[in-house]
Amino acid sequence: MFELTGKTAVITGGGSGIGRAIALLFARRGAKVHILDIGEAAGAQVLAEIREAGGQGAAQACDVTRQAEVRACFAAIGPIDILINNAGVAHVGKADNTAEEDFDRVIGVNVKGAYNCLHAAIPLLKENGGGVILNMASVAAWVAVPERFAYSTAKGAVMAMTLSVAKDYLQDGIRCNSISPGRVHTPFVDGFLAKNYPGREAEMFERLSKTQPIGRMARPEEVAALALYLCSDEAAFITGSDYPIDGGFITLNA
Ligand SMILES: NC(=O)c1ccc[n+]([C@@H]2O[C@H](COP(=O)([O-])OP(=O)(O)OC[C@H]3O[C@@H](n4cnc5c(N)ncnc54)[C@H](O)[C@@H]3O)[C@@H](O)[C@H]2O)c1
Repeated sequence: MFELTGKTAVITGGGSGIGRAIALLFARRGAKVHILDIGEAAGAQVLAEIREAGGQGAAQACDVTRQAEVRACFAAIGPIDILINNAGVAHVGKADNTAEEDFDRVIGVNVKGAYNCLHAAIPLLKENGGGVILNMASVAAWVAVPERFAYSTAKGAVMAMTLSVAKDYLQDGIRCNSISPGRVHTPFVDGFLAKNYPGREAEMFERLSKTQPIGRMARPEEVAALALYLCSDEAAFITGSDYPIDGGFITLNA
């Protein structure tokens, strides 16, 4: 079960955190993994780890907000079976103190970036007779997270985008789903704490951990395991769905 041998997967933001864990796991299950990340060195590092473990892959520097760059990357890759729209950025703020440039940046990466990759990848998936798309949403799309106005807005768009794509390409054999993680311990969280709570990182890490009723953050590998299931042939009956993986964040934080 959960074999990806012979499949080609593109993972945006594959140089760090959840994307890295997905890239390593998919390569272990036999996929050829293409990492697209704005951080060239980070992508190259994950590719080296894949190769060291005997896997196959490639890494390209790519800013998903730039459509021409994204198109060129996908054209160089050729036929694909799996697209994971994972690249994302966060921002802390409410509607009235979110600056225009911060709003544009969050929407630019999390929403337009996903659109740019869909735009480039769907013709390739169709050419290949179908495939799977997985978008990284968030619990913020379901219940919002305090002071994450731009981020919650963006992830809500990602969830609606998932439904739209699932509906429009059903006849083309393309499945499209999303995952909504609660807090996952990645550089995303560490960077957020360092930037917003300097000197109070440990205290805030503990506090953020406890916002999951299960009492901790997820490990990136736990999200990767769900991604593997959703992108495998075993999930052939699943499309147009969002999967929370959140230690009870959505349903048990009454
Ligand atoms: N970590 C969490 O708690 C959490 C929770 C819910 C959802 N998510 C979502 O999961 C995804 C991955 O998060 P993570 O925690 O692994 O983050 P991360 O910061 O560890 O990794 C994100 C990667 O995306 C890349 N990236 C950023 N902007 C890019 C751009 N314009 N073009 C290409 N690549 C770009 C970064 O270089 C980085 O390698 C994001 O979409 C995030 O919103 C994370």
